[in-house]
Amino acid sequence: MDKKEFKDFFEPYSKNVDNANTQAFWKLSDALILEIIKQNIPADDSRDSVIFDAGGGTGRWICDLAKVYEADFILYDLSEDMLAVAKNNIAKAGIEPRVNLIQGDLADIKSVPDSSVDHIISIYSPISFIEKKERAAAELFRILKKGGTILIMGHGYCNALASKINNYAAGPRELRQIAAGSMVKWGDSVPKLNIFSQESMEALLADAGFTPVRTYGVPVFVQPGNEDFDAANSAKSRISAALEDPAFYNQVFQTEMEFNCKKTIANRGMNIFSVAKKQ
Ligand SMILES: C[S@@+](CC[C@H](N)C(=O)[O-])C[C@H]1O[C@@H](n2cnc3c(N)ncnc32)[C@H](O)[C@@H]1O
Repeated sequence: MDKKEFKDFFEPYSKNVDNANTQAFWKLSDALILEIIKQNIPADDSRDSVIFDAGGGTGRWICDLAKVYEADFILYDLSEDMLAVAKNNIAKAGIEPRVNLIQGDLADIKSVPDSSVDHIISIYSPISFIEKKERAAAELFRILKKGGTILIMGHGYCNALASKINNYAAGPRELRQIAAGSMVKWGDSVPKLNIFSQESMEALLADAGFTPVRTYGVPVFVQPGNEDFDAANSAKSRISAALEDPAFYNQVFQTEMEFNCKKTIANRGMNIFSVAKKQ
């Protein structure tokens, strides 16, 4: 992706992403991610630790995680537009002394020393946007301390094929290209994205030196409607409307958590979310 394409995508995105979870589908998806982070990074004794948010965007995860962890944070992102919103969000949350904002490319994290961060999170698929994904994985391995955990998300491979078939009736050529190339293009204004199966994400991590622990699909059963991708959030999908019923929402949440890291189910994920260790 060239600089212009990057800017053209993330400038408008930075203005809307923090409102996305007014739609119940995204609220649920965010709640599943938060629960998975909490289950894999212990909150006890987090006082002197550093959590590195790789492609942390507007800082919305750090603002939430700062309530759970006593840790300090590094928000690392390439987009000046996302970082400008992050600066505001972090000030509003009153957590400025705990957050170091760094602009840079994940494929070359030169400003962060070897073995200097305790845990890494990377949410909503920054790795899907990175051409040199192996380089980024190696850089994340380099900066993580021994014993540290990485939780990294990429767009789902099976979900991309399922969606291109069911929602777009994509042509045979495009379907073959997606299957063979592990990349998908959703529209003119969206860059071509890397897509991952459980196996390919775990292989990426293992090749970089990590030991994969488990992989979740997020979400595995609930599927967004078209309206859930409307940046203005003006319309509401059938599923987002239904999820406003707390009993339904809670049951879907529980069902997702019951199945989402089963080996036979994780590849259903719209996103593939892998946990790995540096041993
Ligand atoms: C879909 S957004 C997710 C943002 C945030 N993690 C969240 O969940 O709201 C992807 C983020 O990855 C960042 N990104 C993409 N390519 C990157 C790269 N090569 N280096 C650093 N950040 C990158 C973008 O700027 C953007 O903030």
